Amino acid sequence: MKKIGVIFDLDGVIVDTAKYHFLAWKDLADHLGFEFTEAHNELLKGVSRVRSLEILLDIGNVELSEEKKQEFLISKNEEYLKYITEMGPEEILPGASELLDALDALGIQYVLGSASKNAPLILKQVNLYERFAGIVDGNSVSKAKPDPEVFLIGAKKLNLKPEQCIVFEDAIAGVEAANTANMISIGIGDEKTLHEADFNFKDLTEISSSFIKELTIRKEKKEQRI
Ligand code: BG6
Ligand code: MG
Repeated sequence: MKKIGVIFDLDGVIVDTAKYHFLAWKDLADHLGFEFTEAHNELLKGVSRVRSLEILLDIGNVELSEEKKQEFLISKNEEYLKYITEMGPEEILPGASELLDALDALGIQYVLGSASKNAPLILKQVNLYERFAGIVDGNSVSKAKPDPEVFLIGAKKLNLKPEQCIVFEDAIAGVEAANTANMISIGIGDEKTLHEADFNFKDLTEISSSFIKELTIRKEKKEQRI
């Protein structure tokens, strides 16, 4: 049996914070005088805060000074934090707690690998912080997803080689980062969007203990991909 460890993305895998990011970014777009839709918000998933602002400004065709950008990054996050600090364990996505329980029962360790600088706060809000063997977040990396840095640091925290790590991700950039890191990528969400993943599931309720066990006996990544 192969020793494995798991790296979880946070937003969109363990909790649905995209709706709060949306509200906070939409506030900024309203302030700047252009429309920002839920479809636009899809483009920001998995993307760093700074890059999200650049994408938003492109959508609105707005150019800003560096100073103004910094100001809006702060005000957007302040707005976002108003929602985050109201979060509780009831906002954990279906299947997430059960999957952590199953990993605990199998003796498989897991860490967080998130682009969010708010990740520790969010995990504390939903009472999951203590369960993770390590946290890698937006404060720990110099390069954002799709760069594999966040997951490679996660593998180090697990004391495992990249090929022993399983990554759960809901964003294209995250699946790409996991694949580049030579880890097993599991796409959570729309299969067509995440077709680069080694495995696809609609949500975490679909992950069974037997699937996790199967991963411990697989010799190579992607051997089941056609
Ligand atoms: C990712 C989200 O997890 O974190 C992105 O999917 C977000 O939408 C990014 O932009 C950064 O988050 P934060 O909390 O540092 O602004
Ligand atoms: Mg995500």
